[in-house]
Amino acid sequence: MKSVNIGIIGGGLMGREMASAFARWCALTDVSVRPVLTAVADLNPATLSWFDCIPSCTQKTTDYKALLANPDVDVVYVAVPHNLHEQLYCDVLAAGKDLFAEKPFGIDLASARRIHAAVKASGRFVRCSSEMPFFPGAQRAFELAKSGSIGRVLEVVSGFHHSSDLDPTKAANWKRMNALCGEGGALNDLGMHACHIPLRLGWKPSRVFAQLQKGYPQRPDGKGGVANCDTWDNALLNTWIKVGGHDVPMRLEMKRLMPGATNTWYIEILGTDGGVRYSTADTKALWLFERGKEQFWKRTDLGFGTPFKTVTGGIFEPGFADVIQQMWAAYLMERAGLLNGRFGCATPEEAVATHEIFAAALQSQAQGTVVSL
Ligand SMILES: NC(=O)c1ccc[n+]([C@@H]2O[C@H](COP(=O)([O-])OP(=O)(O)OC[C@H]3O[C@@H](n4cnc5c(N)ncnc54)[C@H](O)[C@@H]3O)[C@@H](O)[C@H]2O)c1
Repeated sequence: MKSVNIGIIGGGLMGREMASAFARWCALTDVSVRPVLTAVADLNPATLSWFDCIPSCTQKTTDYKALLANPDVDVVYVAVPHNLHEQLYCDVLAAGKDLFAEKPFGIDLASARRIHAAVKASGRFVRCSSEMPFFPGAQRAFELAKSGSIGRVLEVVSGFHHSSDLDPTKAANWKRMNALCGEGGALNDLGMHACHIPLRLGWKPSRVFAQLQKGYPQRPDGKGGVANCDTWDNALLNTWIKVGGHDVPMRLEMKRLMPGATNTWYIEILGTDGGVRYSTADTKALWLFERGKEQFWKRTDLGFGTPFKTVTGGIFEPGFADVIQQMWAAYLMERAGLLNGRFGCATPEEAVATHEIFAAALQSQAQGTVVSL
């Protein structure tokens, strides 16, 4: 098995999630590349100390430029606030490293386009994080839509819902501030998750009407004071896509204020001859529509049908940590030219396309009009 040395910049929520996925790499049985966490950079020394539990991670630094100067690092994963994406991604490329970027791939459309130009000029292998399509139910929905067997597509809904912002006592963090998260707010935060599969199917909206909502304007700052929160928290995007020559309505939903939802990703694709519904709220359940003399919605319990095979029993249920690992397997195998038709990570072009959708949504909200892309 070939080893690839990984450096992580930003050891917060996602940095540690990714490191944990590497630590359990022995679960994968049909990959020929192995990530080895070699270095981590974070401004916070206390965050760095968590990485003491990973023996291969010998460089721990508060200066990400020291990590980029490490000749042993092949690939850099960057998980920092959105206002830092462009600078850090471009610095990774300039250091001659491959990049696994986080969404939203720059704080806004202009930034995403500049990053994309730097990627093209560098010739490095770059993908953007988006793990939800690696759930077995999401894969089944994607394959079914791609097969064309559902007939004429009538309607698509794709979304991602959270609810923790309903709690006014939840402390503010950088994701609730336009200056750090970006004016897109929930679009920047959750939009890639809703857009990835539609974009991979070629379903990029041509027109967008957006309804955006804000939540609490102030929250505790976690240090005894209050912090202003100015981001959009909920986004409903009513769009038109073209499928098989027909105009089809597609609704993209990104919500931080969805009563009861905890990290719920879902997709629904309805056609004249078939259809599919999948939601991580009911991780195993795949709903398939069948039209015959009678019409049926059939439910099946999915097992562990992930794109990359594992030691996990076929009837066991997958979770967030599993799809993070599957996404990394896709990144490393595609980088090695070994993806072999399996689902690949979001491309820089797809990431720029998400920002085109978000920019149109912001314009639509500001003008109260339908915006063409
Ligand atoms: N794919 C997903 O499901 C998913 C989920 C959550 C967040 N994200 C994305 O991951 C990224 C990070 O989000 P998070 O939730 O991990 O944030 P976080 O706040 O938990 O962690 C960010 C870390 O970056 C560090 N940092 C800030 N500036 C730095 C610098 N100059 N050098 C080194 N370290 C620095 C901070 O100290 C912090 O530890 C964002 O782009 C976010 O949108 C993705």
